[in-house]
Amino acid sequence: MSENGKSLVLSGSGVTKIFGSGAKKVVAVNKVDFEFHEKELVSIVGESGSGKTTLVKMLLGLISVTEGDIYFMGEKRDIRSRRQKKEYWKGIQAIFQDPFSSYNMFHKIDSVLLDCINMRGGRSLPRPKKIEMITEACSFVNLKYAELTNKYPFELSGGQQQRLMIARIFLLKPKILLADEPTSMIDACSRATILDMLLGLRNETGMMIIFVTHDIGLAYYISDSVYIMERGRFVESGKADAVILSPSAEYTKRLINDVPKIHSPWDFTKAAEGASV
Ligand SMILES: Nc1ncnc2c1ncn2[C@@H]1O[C@H](COP(=O)(O)OP(=O)(O)O)[C@@H](O)[C@H]1O
Ligand SMILES: [Mg+2]
Repeated sequence: MSENGKSLVLSGSGVTKIFGSGAKKVVAVNKVDFEFHEKELVSIVGESGSGKTTLVKMLLGLISVTEGDIYFMGEKRDIRSRRQKKEYWKGIQAIFQDPFSSYNMFHKIDSVLLDCINMRGGRSLPRPKKIEMITEACSFVNLKYAELTNKYPFELSGGQQQRLMIARIFLLKPKILLADEPTSMIDACSRATILDMLLGLRNETGMMIIFVTHDIGLAYYISDSVYIMERGRFVESGKADAVILSPSAEYTKRLINDVPKIHSPWDFTKAAEGASV
């Protein structure tokens, strides 16, 4: 049950999601097996429509699993009741592509962050202690609490909203963080910052991160392990170096060929020839 002495935090066997039935049936996730270990950063990589978000929603318990089993901290997951779900969400949290979907926009930033402390059992802490924790979480993501207090999330820029989501995770300290394309709607500069913050979170808190992306170059840069997803199936998985530097599936090779910078540096001589024709 362990790899290099690290225990399994989340695993699954034959996990499947079928939407609809009859002619409208869509097998979005098709019998996937996976093993995620503590402190690991795993990327799930695939093109749009390959089933990544559907898998994330099943892992999070937002939608039901049609077939197969999910194991959390070594035990078969049971989140049938509302109480069990709330308990489960102390251990697993997510940030999404669109920060608007992550919190109630009509709650001020103060209450968004206070809720996190309350969820972690800090409801009875003295107020100055709560403010200190919030200030620390904000400074972890380079935000100043004094500039956020009494504001609403929608008053922040896109990059600031993503950072606020990470401040929430810093306070919630889940065992597992699911990040579904968290950087695809922000500019390159904010993207690098967000990635650094996610890596910082992992180093600081030891949380396991599942990073979902269509960008195999990005996955190579940040992951320990990768799972390559094509039309609902995992076609290949393993250590990021092994899979991306010597891929075996045709699909992985194609994803890599779409990112020329991994293998071949820019060939300026050819570019110059092209220009003279
Ligand atoms: N609620 C739904 N009802 C029907 N089909 C869905 C639903 N959600 C996703 N799908 C389908 O499942 C497939 C996988 O979608 P998704 O998980 O969003 O992929 P990805 O996140 O990799 O882009 C797609 O064909 C999509 O149209
Ligand atoms: Mg998606």
